[in-house]
Amino acid sequence: MNKDLSKILITEQEIDVITTRLAQQITNDYKDSDKPLIMVIILKGSINFASDLMRKIPLPMKIEFMKVSSYGAGTKQSGEIKVQLDLNIDNLENYDILIIEDIVDSGRTLSRLTQLLYGRCAESVKTCTLLDKPSRREVEFTPDYCGQTIPDEFVVGYGLDYAEKYRNLPYVGVLDPKIYS
Ligand code: IMP
Ligand code: MG
Repeated sequence: MNKDLSKILITEQEIDVITTRLAQQITNDYKDSDKPLIMVIILKGSINFASDLMRKIPLPMKIEFMKVSSYGAGTKQSGEIKVQLDLNIDNLENYDILIIEDIVDSGRTLSRLTQLLYGRCAESVKTCTLLDKPSRREVEFTPDYCGQTIPDEFVVGYGLDYAEKYRNLPYVGVLDPKIYS
């Protein structure tokens, strides 16, 4: 285990079980849709999750990336998000969109992003997150697909970072509070 962690929360084997289960649900839900599917991967935290997940979904799909950041308390918790990297497709008419995220915390990012993509005329917009911290919610939001709900602890690994570190750990672990306090 990495020395900066207090414990491993989800092992590589458990991640494999989670991505297999989610991929089966997604495949089942989209297999009869006649709309083209776009998997929108939210950078950077969900790269490993999306990479494992997509290889277990045997359906035609396009892959697109977005990078977004939410404005903090400084803007009166407006819930607005800033798009730092946008899709290459402007008009989403006719497309089923599946957003892939690493973790849901306040819920602001995914609730705003869902609205944004519906505003671009997507046929449907669903969300898939590896992790969810429901106790931290500030806006009402429920992901369509969730790997695992976790307590209010700061986690890293398998794409998730603290100050851009730990993304390459193959498991998800709880960061030792002494690292950030
Ligand atoms: P929110 O749901 O809009 O508050 O934001 C979710 C984003 O906050 C995620 O995409 C992560 O970038 C970040 N985040 C929240 N909790 C954690 C954590 O425990 N570890 C790493 N990043 C986190
Ligand atoms: Mg993120």
